[in-house]
Amino acid sequence: MEARAVETDFERIDLRSDTVTCPTPEMRQAMCEAEVGDDMVGEDPTVNLLEAYCCELFQKEAAVFCCSGTQSNQVAVWSQCRPGDEILIEQNGHLANYEGGAPAVLSGVSVRCLPGRGGMLDSADLESAWRQPHQHFPTPKLLCLENTTNIGGGRVYPFEQLQRVCEWGRARGLRLHLDGARIFNACTAAGYLPHQVANLFDTVSLCFSKGLGCPMGSMLLGDADTIARGRRARKIFGGALRQAGIMAAAAVYALQHHRARLVEDHAHARRLAEILQGIEGVRIQPELVESNIVFFELDPAGMTGVEFTRQLQQKNVLMFAVGPQRIRAVTHLDINSGMVEQAGRVIAEVLARRP
Ligand SMILES: Cc1ncc(COP(=O)(O)O)c(C=O)c1O
Repeated sequence: MEARAVETDFERIDLRSDTVTCPTPEMRQAMCEAEVGDDMVGEDPTVNLLEAYCCELFQKEAAVFCCSGTQSNQVAVWSQCRPGDEILIEQNGHLANYEGGAPAVLSGVSVRCLPGRGGMLDSADLESAWRQPHQHFPTPKLLCLENTTNIGGGRVYPFEQLQRVCEWGRARGLRLHLDGARIFNACTAAGYLPHQVANLFDTVSLCFSKGLGCPMGSMLLGDADTIARGRRARKIFGGALRQAGIMAAAAVYALQHHRARLVEDHAHARRLAEILQGIEGVRIQPELVESNIVFFELDPAGMTGVEFTRQLQQKNVLMFAVGPQRIRAVTHLDINSGMVEQAGRVIAEVLARRP
């Protein structure tokens, strides 16, 4: 694969998120040449192609192209729950914490957040929190897992754990949804295939706008009935589209050309963790860096996360402070190895001047 930038030729090193990527010239070309039609009446050939491509990859009956990961998650909730139902999810889960309270707003559904590890749940966590359905309680309906985890730290579920949790959920009559915003990162890191994971769940949501580097778009996959309801939800949420093939073309391009390179992002994240481990004033567990997300803590005796990221920004390195001392850095398509080394140098410089 061609290098996208000369390793030392960069102005800004943006490690805030893998959502900051810009489409490559080749992706833009694919978008330019996309055949389009009216998707709301099922006539956009490129959207149809993308949906069929995803069904094949994930071995699911049906798929609906959505605007964002938030939309595809919430379409999954609406199509599988009724008002008064409850979602079970790990306490850091995106669907519960970072989607504007959408399960309550859009679907009349409450959320039960359970403590896990690294954003991941195991069957024992669920068993100890399980309440027998009773008139006091909302009706438990949907179990949601996230893989890889975001705020959980970019962690990757081992396959056996996914199986165990899904078996537990099935035995209690729950529907199972996977927030697979970064499912290809998970597959790359763990070595499982998309359909092996998807087979465990009723619905899977995946994002094109994260590691795959597209400007927008997500997909919700499931059985034909659920996705038919999902299409209705997408319409109600204002997300039914017209000539969306321009965006679907970017996603088709990314599925073909950007999946194999995710190993590079993971190697860059591991390298960043290794550099951080050698910097005084940083606490990190490099062994927990399993995909493209790196979390680290600043020594509480030193500067705050906000001050740290402000000083980094002055030196053209961008990261997010996600807690008083907690920082998140994410590697992606627009980050090369030279940028990782430079980010490390800047962090060491900034922390060397800490009070
Ligand atoms: C795990 C996870 N799920 C869902 C989303 C939502 O995606 P979007 O920003 O496209 O709505 C994100 C966004 O970062 C995410 O990290």
